[in-house]
Amino acid sequence: MSTGNYKQLAAQLRKPQGVMGDEVAEFMNAGNELLTRNTIQQIKLTRDLNIIEIGMGNGKFIPELFEMFSLSSYHGCDYSMDMVQSAKRLNEGNPEKHKVHFYHCEAQQRPFVSQTQDVIFTVNTIYFWDDADQVLQEFGRVLVNN
Ligand SMILES: C[S@@+](CC[C@H](N)C(=O)[O-])C[C@H]1O[C@@H](n2cnc3c(N)ncnc32)[C@H](O)[C@@H]1O
Repeated sequence: MSTGNYKQLAAQLRKPQGVMGDEVAEFMNAGNELLTRNTIQQIKLTRDLNIIEIGMGNGKFIPELFEMFSLSSYHGCDYSMDMVQSAKRLNEGNPEKHKVHFYHCEAQQRPFVSQTQDVIFTVNTIYFWDDADQVLQEFGRVLVNN
């Protein structure tokens, strides 16, 4: 692979877009499957949950979340409009899709009311955030205070 191609791939991993973006998203689904499942398995709360995922890509693992937990809502945030659209498409057949909401936004710009969310998770995105402190502060604001 040439240097130019590596740069193109790196840009797509950061923000998947267009036809190549969809291919990269599928490639990430396969490569990150174990990590994503391990992350989801860390959720130990058993009540009805409101969950946010930052950088859900094409949202492949959303149906598994609904199988594993009793979810009141799932909110997926991604700053790639193409990923938001792919996630909407992939979740068309999800019987729980009325509980699924997608947002085209930056990690620190989530449109949520304070103390309304039980879980926020993200896989392979933190190194793309411009200001991780700001994002984590925002997490603190929207998480339910247990
Ligand atoms: C490497 S992919 C990981 C996708 C998926 N979580 C996985 O592990 O397969 C990074 C995803 O996070 C999104 N992303 C990266 N930085 C972001 C930010 N600052 N705000 C919102 N989304 C972001 C990208 O658009 C992309 O869909």
